[in-house]
Amino acid sequence: MKNEAPQQHDGSDGAGGYSSFRIRNSGPLEGTVRIQGAKNSVLKLMAATLLAEGTFRIDNVPDITDVYTMGELLSSMGLTVTHGAGTVDIVCPAECSTVAPYEIVGRIRASIVVLGPLLARFGEATVALPGGDNFGSRPIDMHLRGLEAMGAEFETEHGDVIGRVDNLVGADILLDFPSVGATENLMMAAVRAKGITVIDNVAREPEISDLAEMLNKMGAKISGAGTSTLTIEGVDSLHAVDHTVVSDRLESATYMAALASAHGEIRLDGARAHHMEMLLAKLRSMGMTITPDDEGITAVVPGRLTSVDVSTLPYPGIATDYKPLIVAMLTLSEGVGIVTENLYAGRFAYVSELTRMGASVRIDGHHAVVKGSEQLSGARVKAHDIRAGACLMVAALSAEGETIISDAHHIDRGYTNFVGKLQGIGVDIERVEVDRRR
Ligand code: UD1
Repeated sequence: MKNEAPQQHDGSDGAGGYSSFRIRNSGPLEGTVRIQGAKNSVLKLMAATLLAEGTFRIDNVPDITDVYTMGELLSSMGLTVTHGAGTVDIVCPAECSTVAPYEIVGRIRASIVVLGPLLARFGEATVALPGGDNFGSRPIDMHLRGLEAMGAEFETEHGDVIGRVDNLVGADILLDFPSVGATENLMMAAVRAKGITVIDNVAREPEISDLAEMLNKMGAKISGAGTSTLTIEGVDSLHAVDHTVVSDRLESATYMAALASAHGEIRLDGARAHHMEMLLAKLRSMGMTITPDDEGITAVVPGRLTSVDVSTLPYPGIATDYKPLIVAMLTLSEGVGIVTENLYAGRFAYVSELTRMGASVRIDGHHAVVKGSEQLSGARVKAHDIRAGACLMVAALSAEGETIISDAHHIDRGYTNFVGKLQGIGVDIERVEVDRRR
């Protein structure tokens, strides 16, 4: 299939109706979920195809809207993008457009990572300032400062960032904060810069290592991925490769959170325990039994879990993206738990939706104080972003009655076959079309 999203992924039926999920009290859960390739990796791997002429195949690709949107962006730049079952084939030509337009970039913030590859290969890039999930302001100053250190010059005009450089040159760069996006953009620029680039205080996420692995297969010389310092020796040219996307730790965490709510025993095929050690330690201390092996994870929750305190931190700390799932689990656990957000301001929008379901959550600055209840109450709620939507699903599983989660398109941005996978482990869920004009 050439780059186009299936109808159920666009969130609307084009006639004023929007998808919602209807979820009824479910459990105990039982069965197996096949974990998808990571959303936060595949989008960057797709951007990396701008670095070399040729035909790429990416495997273990999640069937999510963001992948189609990134495909749309690359197609608009002249690449040929073909989606298959769990694959995407991308043909990058010798010349392509260096403009990433707002109509597409506005839909996913991750598209900012085309900036580094475009400057590295073509010496110019015009990229609209990004949009993405609706939480806090997310500047790109570290991306730009790092690229400037390699010789690029930027101006902003009409909402676009316009970058130019004759030849990128290797530099020593120290990031103020281990930003995931800045690390990826700078790594993709440095692989074709002249000389050696050393980037300190980089992000260490498994998705960074996945990107570095693909770039090295393409002929790049990157060492230190997974540590705080990347050393990159620039090369003159790169070539197209095949690559398999790393497993999605956020999807794994989502199904574990569902288990925490509805109890039972599930198997997560393809989950990688060593990419989520800190979270697993927390879940164990709450009372979940977790047995990892080479092929995945088996998790068991016999009854109500115990509350814990959690702080988000850059990897290997507990990811900010897990936080809505953790808050949802705590609304049902025994006791009081305090969740502290250290990465983003204002990432608690979903709390008011949980409150509609009877949850007891008090926000105090960066902290959420969550008092567990025995049971929440089903309600009409709204998914503000991907993980907030997943958090409401978790709460709905053990709520009394029925919950309708509107704005399902946010969830479709990040989860392959959300309904089918949940039904497969015994969740009473269906997609319903809601006419908002009424
Ligand atoms: C990625 C993930 C996102 C996750 C986040 C943190 C993708 C597609 N998204 O987002 O799901 O929540 O990592 O783990 O991979 N910052 C600046 N200046 C910059 C760059 C970042 O101030 O130039 C700040 C941001 O505002 C934020 C923090 O640094 O407060 C983390 O941002 P970053 O790690 O860059 O997140 P993303 O790459 O956008």
